Amino acid sequence: MKKILLTGGCGYIGSHTCVELLTSGYDVTIYDNLLNSDKSVLGKIKQITGKTPKFMQGDLLDTVLLDKVFKDGKFDAVIHFAALKAVGESIEKPIEYYTNNVVGSLRLFEAMKKHGVKKIIYSSSATVYGIPEKMPLTEDSPVTHATNPYGETKIMIERILMDIAVADKDFTAVSLRYFNPVGAHESGLIGDYPKGIPLNIAPYIMQTAIGVRPHVDVFGDDYPTPDGTGVRDYIHVVDLVLGHIAALEKIKKPGTHIYNLGTGKGFSVLELIKAFEKAYDKKIPYKVAKRRPGDIAVCYANCDKAKKELGWVATRTIDDMCKSTVKFSLTPTP
Ligand code: NAD
Ligand code: WQD
Repeated sequence: MKKILLTGGCGYIGSHTCVELLTSGYDVTIYDNLLNSDKSVLGKIKQITGKTPKFMQGDLLDTVLLDKVFKDGKFDAVIHFAALKAVGESIEKPIEYYTNNVVGSLRLFEAMKKHGVKKIIYSSSATVYGIPEKMPLTEDSPVTHATNPYGETKIMIERILMDIAVADKDFTAVSLRYFNPVGAHESGLIGDYPKGIPLNIAPYIMQTAIGVRPHVDVFGDDYPTPDGTGVRDYIHVVDLVLGHIAALEKIKKPGTHIYNLGTGKGFSVLELIKAFEKAYDKKIPYKVAKRRPGDIAVCYANCDKAKKELGWVATRTIDDMCKSTVKFSLTPTP
């Protein structure tokens, strides 16, 4: 049985990945400092899969604990989710972001080297494309600079992984550039419920629908898009996770591998609100507000490379994303 370390495995994408890995027969250890997640997710994973992953609460910067986890774990591969991810906060707190994300990742890579772990799947982001020149984005689209420190950390870590793979001919680094993950597990037990005010649109719409927020602010309706609101490539979190499993199982060749994970289709903010209204079967109040600084008009992926090389395509629709979110938001938490 393959032994996998999930850093940040208690978070939104990590917890869904843990479910799919356990269901597929992998042996999973989660390493998470719980800064943006809750230990109760482990019980929910057990409810869904009948299995509990091994768990160690710890920080990537804690080299002593990390060393012990690697010594005990004898991992075949690492899936590296742990990061701070709030774009706006990263502009206010660059040092914290570079330290947590970049230095934390370096500590992880050092532990991998010391313990001979030669494969990593890394959570990168469409944010590495910065302000793109044209759509759709392919893996060859220019990656020069992001629009914020968070995005820069994603670019830096991708580049560090490339250099490690050059230096160590047995090392396999897979960077998966996520577009906009949305949705929840079909059980309704796990999903995206960020701590504090949501920054991403889907959890904001969800919290408005269930009455936690009074209305959604739509950031700008004067973009050059069909209805004037921003267009994004929303991808169901379970499809995204299946991309990780495909990368884990299909990529055998050492070196650097980069894939976009999206659907290839764009939806506007108003279209997304409408899809949620259909799923909740009620009106969701919104107000048009001014543009959010740093936002681009349109962003969507070309995912041909993942289809060709990983045999992976996203199959879940925007309605699936909304329906699963509704179920998650209406499932009482024990
Ligand atoms: P999340 O915040 O829900 O999960 C991240 C987890 O990492 C949390 O449980 C947090 O407690 C943990 N963590 C953070 N720093 C840590 C550290 N130093 N040591 C140990 N644990 C630490 O985020 P998510 O949405 O699940 O994102 C997972 C990954 O995917 C991140 O790397 C993020 O940058 C990337 N990503 C997310 C999105 C998105 O929209 N959700 C899009 C593109 C890329
Ligand atoms: C989507 C659309 C907004 C909130 C971010 C990060 C990116 C990646 C994914 C990690 C845009 C609009 C939003 C709101 C709104 N994360 N919006 N009202 O900006 O595409 O990407 O998350 O890597 O790095 O930048 O996602 O969900 O914030 O916004 O109108 O309250 O919704 O303007 O058009 P974004 P988002």
